[in-house]
Amino acid sequence: MYKILSIQELAPKTKMFEVSAPDIVAKAEPGQFVIVIISEKGERIPLTISDYNREKGTLSFAFHEVGKTTKELGLLQVGDDLENVTGPLGNPSEIKKFGKVLCIGGSVMIAPLLLQVKAMKEAGNHVTTIIGARIKDGLLMKEKAEALSDKTYIATDDGSIGHKGLDFLKEILKKEKFDRCVVMGPVAMMYEVSEITKPYGIPTIVTTTPIMMDGMGMCGVCRVTVGGKMLFGCFDGPEFDGHQVDFDQLVQRQRLFLPEERVKSLLWEKNIGGCKCDRSKA
Ligand SMILES: Cc1cc2nc3c(=O)[nH]c(=O)nc-3n(C[C@H](O)[C@H](O)[C@H](O)COP(=O)(O)OP(=O)(O)OC[C@H]3O[C@@H](n4cnc5c(N)ncnc54)[C@H](O)[C@@H]3O)c2cc1C
Ligand code: FES
Repeated sequence: MYKILSIQELAPKTKMFEVSAPDIVAKAEPGQFVIVIISEKGERIPLTISDYNREKGTLSFAFHEVGKTTKELGLLQVGDDLENVTGPLGNPSEIKKFGKVLCIGGSVMIAPLLLQVKAMKEAGNHVTTIIGARIKDGLLMKEKAEALSDKTYIATDDGSIGHKGLDFLKEILKKEKFDRCVVMGPVAMMYEVSEITKPYGIPTIVTTTPIMMDGMGMCGVCRVTVGGKMLFGCFDGPEFDGHQVDFDQLVQRQRLFLPEERVKSLLWEKNIGGCKCDRSKA
């Protein structure tokens, strides 16, 4: 039922699937996510909606191959069916005319960030976008970011393309005033941006990605502390005020099952006769 219609290789180990899912697309909004199950006994993995087309009934999500299920997903081909896709889940992003909006995306989360960039532009905002990755090869969708945004900056951890790190953001904020900042990416990056924007009082919205199970507010697995209150990432989020999120706890909770996840991934690779990913680009 959830047929893969196209596959785009965005960067090494990072793909975007376009899937037929008319029931979900009818209600999908930027900022929401779906839970994907590959096979009958497969794990549930949450992935953020990166695009949708209501007329065609298709939705797209991008994923980075980090563990067993995302690596398995990466082996699927156009024409294959996914066992199940549930959604849209979580709250939509707040999209309205804020004025000057700064959108910052890192790694695979650049893909869903660009859906927000598009929506923020359509709402009449002036949008400055920063996209970043660890290294040049990991940078996604540069041309699309440039086409959608009023201004685009590139950053990499090693400076192999664009600015080195995020220090240049401090210089931008000394010169320009922003009314809102939206950040999607690795926890460390969302934390760093939130610390940089705090002294300027720029409302900063981060997309949290705690470990999830049902994605519907019932299991309590996705707890996130925001402003001292315990909230559920799936039900109350996934977007929260970056100046209020307890990032230390978020990282700790994300790593809770890391040893088990590594073992599971290694056993799976062994069973399929070795990893199919290109280690030379890792
Ligand atoms: C709301 C939300 C949106 C997300 N959007 C995206 C996206 O658009 N693209 C993308 O590549 N990734 C996204 N993720 C993360 C993605 O769900 C995990 O990378 C995936 O579940 C890993 O599964 P795995 O079996 O391949 O790896 P595993 O070996 O199981 O885990 C690898 C890492 O992924 C994290 N993880 C594991 N299971 C879950 C889970 N059920 N929920 C959340 N994180 C988990 C853990 O921190 C772990 O360290 C999102 C997560 C959430 C909660
Ligand atoms: S994933 Fe179960 S309550 Fe959020």
